[in-house]
Parts: sequence; structure tokens; C-alpha cells
Amino acid sequence: MFHRKGPSFIELAKQWLSSTERGYDLLARKFDYTPFRTPGSVLSVVNEQLQRSAPISSLLDVCCGTGAAMQWLRPLCCGRMVGIDMSAGMLEVARSTTPSAPGDAHLEFVRANALDMPFGANFDLAVCFGAFGHILRQDEPQLIRQIAGALKPGGRFVFVTREMPPKWSKVYWFSRAFNAAMHLRNWVIKPPFIMYYLTFLLPEVQTLLEDGGFSVEVHQPFDTPLKRLRLVIATRESP
Ligand SMILES: C[S@@+](CC[C@H](N)C(=O)[O-])C[C@H]1O[C@@H](n2cnc3c(N)ncnc32)[C@H](O)[C@@H]1O
Repeated sequence: MFHRKGPSFIELAKQWLSSTERGYDLLARKFDYTPFRTPGSVLSVVNEQLQRSAPISSLLDVCCGTGAAMQWLRPLCCGRMVGIDMSAGMLEVARSTTPSAPGDAHLEFVRANALDMPFGANFDLAVCFGAFGHILRQDEPQLIRQIAGALKPGGRFVFVTREMPPKWSKVYWFSRAFNAAMHLRNWVIKPPFIMYYLTFLLPEVQTLLEDGGFSVEVHQPFDTPLKRLRLVIATRESP
């Protein structure tokens, strides 16, 4: 449907009818041939921005999937890189592909829920890409608490988001229609597949982060056609 090596329409439909975790287990082998993997055009800009503060001694990739961000950021990391994801299938692909990425940071993969992470305050940098749609709005403060809890004081949480698109735009109405279909699907079919667009947006997420003990900088380093994206650097304040 997206690429000759990507999933067929039938496979995508099966994934859509499964839980979030099972859906990603089913998709894992073909995930890198879908537009759901965060593209190099985004991650190369993040890499460029983070180079100023390299080397990074410990990095956590929340909802790492098949390891797209870990592969781009490994050259900046001199110590430990940990990818956490709830899908065993996605982690299996990440485990097999990420070691060939340039750099020599030690790689670890942990299967766990981002809303209940098994870490102390050990990381200098946490990142999360392409996964906020899988976190329900009411769980966003918990995700922020979990990330704050995994960062050392002064540690940074870096991610990409945008502002709400204008109400007259196609992207706004496509996203609203998609979300309505997902609400209906999750009302009718259990277990739910949690995936909604237009979440974790600015400026609301800035307020959530500030309430969660972060100071927040919003940057605009992307060129057309990504110029609506914003790079958020949230620094965990000392308690
Ligand atoms: C669209 S993929 C993005 C993967 C990768 N970060 C990227 O940018 O290519 C979303 C990932 O989030 C994971 N995920 C969703 N909800 C999660 C949760 N609550 N805890 C941990 N992982 C989760 C899924 O298993 C999937 O691998």
C-alpha cells in the first residue's frame, strides 16, 4: 500500500483491529516501509540541533519502535542508549538493525509501557518521536512525570510537535475524521487501538511540561515542507 515491501491493505486492517501492542507486533517487520516511521528529514535536523551539546552520555528513546531515532542519534552518544517500547516485535527489529548504526554507544532495549517506566533518574537526554498519538490526553501528565523521573536534574526531553492546524485546513479535517473513526472503533471493538492525531500540541504541551517541572524552549529549525514543525527542548529543573 505504501511501498512494495510495506504492509498490504488487508494486513493494515488486521493491525487496526488488534490492540496497540499486538498491532505493532504484527506490523513490525514491515514498519520501516511505512510513513509511520519518523523520517530522516526530521531526525537529521534533530541530530544537527543536538550536536551542540554532544557527546551525550546517556540517552533514552521512549517508544523507540524499530529504532529510527536511536540510529540517527547514536553518533552523538558516548555512553548508554536505551530504547523502550511496549511491542516485542518492534524491539526485535530495533535490536537487529540498530547495532549497525554509526557510533559505539552501548545499546539496550527494554519492553515496557512508557506510562510506567522502570528507570530511576539516570538519563541526560530523553527523546520521543511519532508516538504521542498513542498516549491518551488524560495520560499526558503521567507520561511527562515518567520522563521527568527518568532524567537527571538538568536533563533534557527533546521532541517534535506543532501547533493545532487551522480549522480550514485539510490536515485538520482529515485528523478529526480519523479520530472520529478511531473513537467509534474503540467503542465497538476491544481491546482498543490507541491512536489519535492532534495530540501533544503547542502551546498546551508547554504548559503541561512547565507544570511538570520543566523549563521549555521552542525552536523552529525546519525548512519547507516541514516548516510547521517545532523542536521542543524541555529541561528538567532541579527539585
Ligand atoms: C509510530 S511508532 C514510532 C516508532 C519510532 N519512535 C519512530 O519514530 O519511528 C509508535 C511506537 O510507540 C510504541 N508505543 C505505543 N504506545 C506505547 C506505550 N504506552 N508504551 C511504550 N511504547 C508504546 C509502539 O509499540 C510503536 O513502536
